[in-house]
Amino acid sequence: MQSSPHSLSPHLSSPLTAGSLAAKNRVWMAPLTRCRAPGGVPTQLNATYYSQRASAGVIVSEATNISQEATGYPDTGSIYTQAHIDGWKLVTDAVHKAGGTIVCQLWHVGRVSHPDYHDGALPVAPSALNVGGESRTPDGGRKQRVTPRALELSEMPRVIADYVHAAKSAIAAGFDGVEIHGANTYLLDQFLRTGSNIRTDRYGGSVENRSRLLFEALDAVCAAIGPARTGLRLSPSGETSTHRDANPRETFTYVVERLNAYNLAYLHLLRYWGDDPATKSREIPLRVFRNIYRGTLVANGKFTLDEAEQWVARGDADAVAFGELFISNPDLPARIAQGVALTPPDRTTYYTSGPHGYTDYPAKT
Ligand SMILES: Cc1cc2nc3c(=O)[nH]c(=O)nc-3n(C[C@H](O)[C@H](O)[C@H](O)COP(=O)(O)O)c2cc1C
Repeated sequence: MQSSPHSLSPHLSSPLTAGSLAAKNRVWMAPLTRCRAPGGVPTQLNATYYSQRASAGVIVSEATNISQEATGYPDTGSIYTQAHIDGWKLVTDAVHKAGGTIVCQLWHVGRVSHPDYHDGALPVAPSALNVGGESRTPDGGRKQRVTPRALELSEMPRVIADYVHAAKSAIAAGFDGVEIHGANTYLLDQFLRTGSNIRTDRYGGSVENRSRLLFEALDAVCAAIGPARTGLRLSPSGETSTHRDANPRETFTYVVERLNAYNLAYLHLLRYWGDDPATKSREIPLRVFRNIYRGTLVANGKFTLDEAEQWVARGDADAVAFGELFISNPDLPARIAQGVALTPPDRTTYYTSGPHGYTDYPAKT
């Protein structure tokens, strides 16, 4: 979609350069786990799904496992073997042929995984603290989460090397860049927060120490593929009852300030999008970070179309990512620009298998 004087959303419809990513508009597709890549290897079905959504300014892929250790949900995409690379090539080729731009979200779930993904071994985490609740197991069932084991100091270089290997594999698979997943209760977010990180070595305690793994992974990935192809996702207000930080405003202010030195392709920030009023009341407005961060900022979290247009018009964000709306509206940017009615998503098909609820939502523009 090109910027057009007749567009109902002139700001969202305008192009944006984010590092080396040339986004044709500011309606980005948020990362969406869909559990439709058996064995972690994408197929033609996934290629069809992503290419249908190639009109997004940038597609951020579903969260993609950087190693077996990183894995914690059934049939999620992975990016560390040649088979994964070959599978993702189907996707990136199809997206590029349709004129799109796509980055790979690099994922390590840390403590929310389950021994069933690791031949009975414990999942890894900053500290041996059970987040509680249930994991979805490889066979699609559910089991109680276990207390993970704390990563040894000697293992940190391996975890960082896994991020680098996955980033290089993503580039080999034809992705235009990567987004490091530092949000939503997963490994890097677990390190950041005092509720999940009670280490006493140089990866725990002060905010400088709690953010060490994030910055070491970022340094290594940027050195490997370049900062202009590297994005980062954070969820400063993404707390749950068992995933907390004593002072998230201080933690994330520190992290975002340091990110200014990186010249990343973009920083992708989630506002609180759940429905817990107590968490909502503690939300840190994204404006706090906008005032600190000097690079390209992508906002996400249950944005309405009008709100997104206003945010970009005011400069509160450079682009807005949409998740659920992209599931059911593959041609979302054109629908926004032309005022075509949106199709509501069917939540019962989010994590199922096959084309239903995945590739069978028609374009209407
Ligand atoms: C089905 C589904 C899968 C999701 N998978 C991911 C994911 O893989 N990685 C991620 O960072 N966020 C994931 N999210 C969060 C979305 O990217 C987004 O932050 C959230 O849905 C709020 O934005 P929205 O209201 O525009 O959908 C997921 C959300 C949904 C509904």
